[in-house]
Amino acid sequence: MTKQPLTAMAGHPLAGRIAIPGDKSISHRALILGALASGETRITGLLESDDVLATAEALRALGVPIRQDQDEGGSFHVLGRGTGGLCSPDRALDFGNSGTGARLMMGVIASHCVTAHLTGDASLSSRPMKRVLEPLAGFGAQVKDGRSRLPLTLSGASLPVPVTYELPVPSAQVKSAVLLAGLNTRGTTCVIEPVATRDHTERMLKLFGADVTIENRPEGGLKICVTGEAELEARHIVVPGDPSSAAFPAVAALIVPGSDIIIQNVMMNPARSGLYTTLSEMGGQIDFLNPRQQSGEVVVDMRVRASALHGIKVPAERAPSMIDEYPALAIAAACAAGETRMEGLGELKVKESDRLSAIYQGLGACGVACSVQDDVLVVKGGGDIAGGGVVQTRLDHRIAMAFLVLGLVSKAPVQVDDGATIMTSFPGFVPMMQELGANITA
Ligand code: S3P
Repeated sequence: MTKQPLTAMAGHPLAGRIAIPGDKSISHRALILGALASGETRITGLLESDDVLATAEALRALGVPIRQDQDEGGSFHVLGRGTGGLCSPDRALDFGNSGTGARLMMGVIASHCVTAHLTGDASLSSRPMKRVLEPLAGFGAQVKDGRSRLPLTLSGASLPVPVTYELPVPSAQVKSAVLLAGLNTRGTTCVIEPVATRDHTERMLKLFGADVTIENRPEGGLKICVTGEAELEARHIVVPGDPSSAAFPAVAALIVPGSDIIIQNVMMNPARSGLYTTLSEMGGQIDFLNPRQQSGEVVVDMRVRASALHGIKVPAERAPSMIDEYPALAIAAACAAGETRMEGLGELKVKESDRLSAIYQGLGACGVACSVQDDVLVVKGGGDIAGGGVVQTRLDHRIAMAFLVLGLVSKAPVQVDDGATIMTSFPGFVPMMQELGANITA
């Protein structure tokens, strides 16, 4: 694909009101659980990004009719096949850039009597899949070509056996893959989670009527179990706005002097809101308005005003609740007086890019002092941001958006080498930022 460079430069304060698009994690899960339910699931506010549309396409290839109803404001309708109802695809399942789509769908395939060839882009093909293939082998799933990265061919078990699996890394994708495999497996499948990660799969499984239990273990952590073979019932899901996407306009409003914006419809799940806790601790003026329930999640409107930020230490325990937000936080840290020390960032090395290295190089290209040692990132902020650099986005949508935000406060413009990748998670990012007054151009 041809690269699409984008440039951001300083200009006016940001002002106005935006509604953030649907949550990516919830959009994947709504499609998948809708496909495994009996009856027609309607999804309103599905995130129509490349990642999510790839999951919809993979489900279609596995025999699930999915259509969009333009008369209904673009709602998606998923004609569920029931657990066990998928059939072998006649084409490869291409997950593009999406680790969530690939890993969750591996879980689904693992306990269905189907064989599928899974592919992805250069970024996804370099990401570790062993973390999910290992527990799925316990159900009886087999990788035909012996590979532990995409592309690979996965055959689900014809008689899957339930597993109990303790997560060696804090990963909601691995947890979800195991729970999804458990849905079409007779008996009880359990995941032991020493460190809590996003719980959208558990919440949505309950919403679809699955038998799910969540226990606090005396030694710490959670034990999450699902009973198969589950009979899920079709639902109407209204997808709340994505807090990981909201991170970019929120940080932009905090750092661009004089800004005052409202971001509507942002999900505030405690397992996802670590960034907002952190920004508040750094002195960010963020008000959480009109809390309400939406499809099992709390949603708020956020008022964000320009603020004098100061550096803090962000503890390792908080990392799982903001694992996708470090690129945005690094930009806030560049504008915060003093040092911001972010600990426990090992998992950032295996995201859409090695984000620790991408952040380090991007900040360096913009004249911001920072250091990385093992899994710790330290940003020394508060001075003028020189800008003027070209940031390598490495097929990583969040690196692209983060550095465009930094360009809004830099002395010289910041260019990102490829903005096309933003389609992965936030297709309307550039026009939405322009609507707020940001100076971002192709
Ligand atoms: C996700 C889980 C996280 C996150 C990703 C979405 C999910 O990944 O980084 O963007 O929807 O379950 P890990 O499970 O690898 O931590």
